[in-house]
Amino acid sequence: MVELIKPHGGELVNKVLEGEAREAALARARKLPEVVLGAKELSDLEMIAVGAFSPLKGFMNKVDYTSVLEHMRLSNGLVWTIPITLSVSYEEAEGLEIGREVALTNGEGAIFGILELAEKFTYDQKKEARLVYRTTETAHPGVARVMAQGDILLAGDIYLLNRPVPEFPEYHRDPAGTRAVIKEKGWKRVLGFQTRNPVHRAHEYIQKCALEMVDGLLLHPLVGETKKDDISPGIRMRSYQVLLDCYYPQDRTLLSVLPAAMRYAGPREAVFHALVRKNYGCTHFIVGRDHAGVGNYYGTYDAQLIFDEFAPGELGIIPLFFEHTFYCRECGNMASSKTCPHPAEDHLTLSGTKVREMLGKGEVPPVEFTRPEVAKVLIEGLS
Ligand code: ADX
Repeated sequence: MVELIKPHGGELVNKVLEGEAREAALARARKLPEVVLGAKELSDLEMIAVGAFSPLKGFMNKVDYTSVLEHMRLSNGLVWTIPITLSVSYEEAEGLEIGREVALTNGEGAIFGILELAEKFTYDQKKEARLVYRTTETAHPGVARVMAQGDILLAGDIYLLNRPVPEFPEYHRDPAGTRAVIKEKGWKRVLGFQTRNPVHRAHEYIQKCALEMVDGLLLHPLVGETKKDDISPGIRMRSYQVLLDCYYPQDRTLLSVLPAAMRYAGPREAVFHALVRKNYGCTHFIVGRDHAGVGNYYGTYDAQLIFDEFAPGELGIIPLFFEHTFYCRECGNMASSKTCPHPAEDHLTLSGTKVREMLGKGEVPPVEFTRPEVAKVLIEGLS
């Protein structure tokens, strides 16, 4: 019998209410003061409730928030690198009583959850930006989001009463459901792969290098909120499926979505992405070049170096680091500076922007960069 990796903190959190408990909570919620959730907060609510953010059971209190910012740990010492918070304005906060419940809604009559309000606190947005994103520039999409938040953070345990309608129901598996599939497949070593882009040849190469050493691959694209110029999840999902159908062994791959919001926090988000994949049952996690980066805010390998700040075994999941990979015309295959002796002129490297441009004009990128089946889906989707 395969023993799956333990979730972060030991137990898979489940804050999804069902049956009578849900009915009772819904009846209460209709009479409670409400807080309207944005796309990120709604996705955080779902992620907490289904255990993807285990051991979190709610939005962070001040002690945990400060500890995460300053030490990359929860106050109990467990590694955690990204603050998970719920902000409101001063005025809204004034109307909410500590010790009472709050309904979490979309502002249009749909109740998604309940917050057991335990604490309201002020925070320093610039400090959060500096420590989490390593910049206070609002050109950074993660920083812009923090700076636009309300001035007060609400903390407390949550319950999920209604789920946001999944965009990709056939690929929607909670941590428990994903763990069940992994168990059924009998995979001992499971590789998690985060992406918010189509899978190009470089991604495929690093996945397959790693797949040589593990039993199965969880291709786990993030489909929550991303920045406007990222390719939409709908197009991406079609491109992943066609790639898996044509080039991956069916019995060693599982495609599921991660409905979390992208933060673009580079190094800190790489650790966070790894911990979340551990909760889904992965034992290994790929961190390549500029993981979860944006613009030039992070060094190419900063998202790998950050893992040195934790003692071996503290994360539980094993990070697999990859150099920047490319196609080398002389080698006649994919390579990196670790495996290829040839000069840069022999390497085919295209920027994401350049590839988007080509696809937008209906041009097929070189086969050494993107599989033609994938290019076809992307061109159809983008035109
Ligand atoms: S991310 O924001 O989700 O990290 P992306 O989808 O581009 O962006 O990358 C998914 C994973 O592949 C990340 O671990 C990233 O570091 C890695 N990666 C992307 N392109 C390359 C490349 N050319 N060489 C090595 N690793 C890469």
